[in-house]
Amino acid sequence: MRRFLVAGNWKMNTTRESGSQLAQALVKEVPTENQAVEVLVCPPFPYLTTIGEIVGASGIGVGAQNCYHEKPGAFTGETATEMLSDIGCRSVLLGHSERRHILKETDVDINLKVKKALADGLQVVLCVGELQSERESEQTETVLNTQMTGGLDGIDASAFDQIVIAYEPVWAIGTGLTASPDQAESAHQYLRNWLKDHYSSEIADATRILYGGSVKPDNARELLSQENVDGALVGGASLKPEQFIPIIQAAIELSAN
Ligand code: 13P
Repeated sequence: MRRFLVAGNWKMNTTRESGSQLAQALVKEVPTENQAVEVLVCPPFPYLTTIGEIVGASGIGVGAQNCYHEKPGAFTGETATEMLSDIGCRSVLLGHSERRHILKETDVDINLKVKKALADGLQVVLCVGELQSERESEQTETVLNTQMTGGLDGIDASAFDQIVIAYEPVWAIGTGLTASPDQAESAHQYLRNWLKDHYSSEIADATRILYGGSVKPDNARELLSQENVDGALVGGASLKPEQFIPIIQAAIELSAN
C-alpha cells in the first residue's frame, strides 16, 4: 500500500510573512495524528529555515525546489545538498519543467543532482512531463522514457525508498488545464511499467507517482482516486490554505477507504 504524498511547490512566490502565515495555517489544520498522508511544502530557498521552524515537529516536511550537484565550494549562487540537510530539509524537487524549459536544465544536469541528493540522504521528487506539442504529436511516452532514463541513469535499485516520481504534463501547469483522470492514469501506468521494466515489480509497486498540473480542490479527489496516482504536486493551489488543505483532506479520506 503506497502512502499518499501531497506536496506544495511554492515556486518563486510568497514573502517571509505570507509564507509564514501559510505554514502556520497548515500546521493548525493538518491533523497531527495524520499518518496516512505525507505532506510536504517546498518554499523558496530564503524561507526554508523560517518555514522549517514553523512546521517543526508537526509532521509536515520541508523540501527545496532545486540543489546543486557539487560539494560546498566555489559555486556562486548555488545551494549544496549538505546545506539543505543542515537546515532540516528532507526533500528536493528535481527536473521541474520550469527548470527544464526556462532554466534549460538537461537530463544530464538533473541526473547529477539526483545522484548527489540521494547520496546525501534527501528524498528526491523527480519531475517528468511532456509539452503540449509533444502530446499532440503522440510523443508523450517517448518523452517520459527519455526523462526517466536520463534522470535515473546509474541509480541503483536500493535508492528507491528515497525516490518519488511526479508526472507533470507541461501543458497543465499553471494553465488551469488539468489532465483528465484517464490521461493522468495512462501516463502513470506507463511510468509504473517503466519502473517494472527497468528495475523490478517490487520497486514499481512501492514507488509513489504524483500527479501535478492545475490540481485544485474540485479535481483532486478524482485524480487521487486513480489506481496509479499516489499523490499530488500542487503549485498555485498550495499557496492558499483554503485550497491546499482540502486537497490534503481528500487524500486523507481516500486513504481511509
Ligand atoms: P500548478 O498547480 O500551478 O499548475 O503547478 C503545478 C506544478 O508545477 C507543481 O510543481
